[in-house]
Amino acid sequence: MEPPERQHPEPPRVKELSPPNRTLMGPGPSDVHPRVLRAMSTPLVGHLDPSFVEIMDETQELLRYVFRTDNRWTIPISGTGSAAMEAAVGNLVEPGDTMLVPTNGYFGGRMAEMARRAGGSVVEVDAPWGEPLDPADVRAAFDEHQPDVFGFVHAETSTGVRQPDVSELTEIAHSHDSYVVADCVTSLGGVPLEGGRVERRRGVRRAPEVPLVPAGRVAAHPERPRDGQGALPRDARAVVVPRPLAA
Ligand SMILES: Cc1ncc(COP(=O)(O)O)c(C=O)c1O
Repeated sequence: MEPPERQHPEPPRVKELSPPNRTLMGPGPSDVHPRVLRAMSTPLVGHLDPSFVEIMDETQELLRYVFRTDNRWTIPISGTGSAAMEAAVGNLVEPGDTMLVPTNGYFGGRMAEMARRAGGSVVEVDAPWGEPLDPADVRAAFDEHQPDVFGFVHAETSTGVRQPDVSELTEIAHSHDSYVVADCVTSLGGVPLEGGRVERRRGVRRAPEVPLVPAGRVAAHPERPRDGQGALPRDARAVVVPRPLAA
């Protein structure tokens, strides 16, 4: 049966856009910097415009600086942190794969849900809420489960806990030939992310809150280009996704 035709004799009446003036409370008061707001009110250009390509080149250069990487595939993504996480997990976890996730906060739990949706099995490395992961526990979990992907949260917003030695965790993962997805949503730009090592892991960041930019933008840096299927190849080295870095 044909669906009934919708009648719209008049366009919907909506007011001119006038959002409320809020103090943003992501990792703390984190209002968007006026310079970023000014950049966002500049004229739009098409995504195939040569000037867009130039802006993209500069944006990539700035992102590489923040990530402390030379990875040429460092790119911004138009989406939230969750969108970026979903993109990374969806690209790295294939049906039958195992993803190791932390239990020490809310956002690690989210990674687990995404991994299951991607068809993966989830195994956990435990730490109480309010504590960072113990590298010895991570190593034991790797030895026991041999996960294909390891996800952790650099700054777990739900508890305020920062994972102190990221490189220790990524070394364990790489010695087991595992991908790493690092959620640095509330740490990027606020605390250093072990310069020179980022390109060696696959991490995910949402549009970071610390650089004081609006939600809805993230960045990634896979070490290899996307393959013909539009997915990251299995040997991609890094996918790191932060929040807005405009201006
Ligand atoms: C550590 C962490 N990861 C992921 C997210 C999700 O980001 P988004 O709300 O942009 O999807 C948040 C949100 O606060 C976060 O704090």
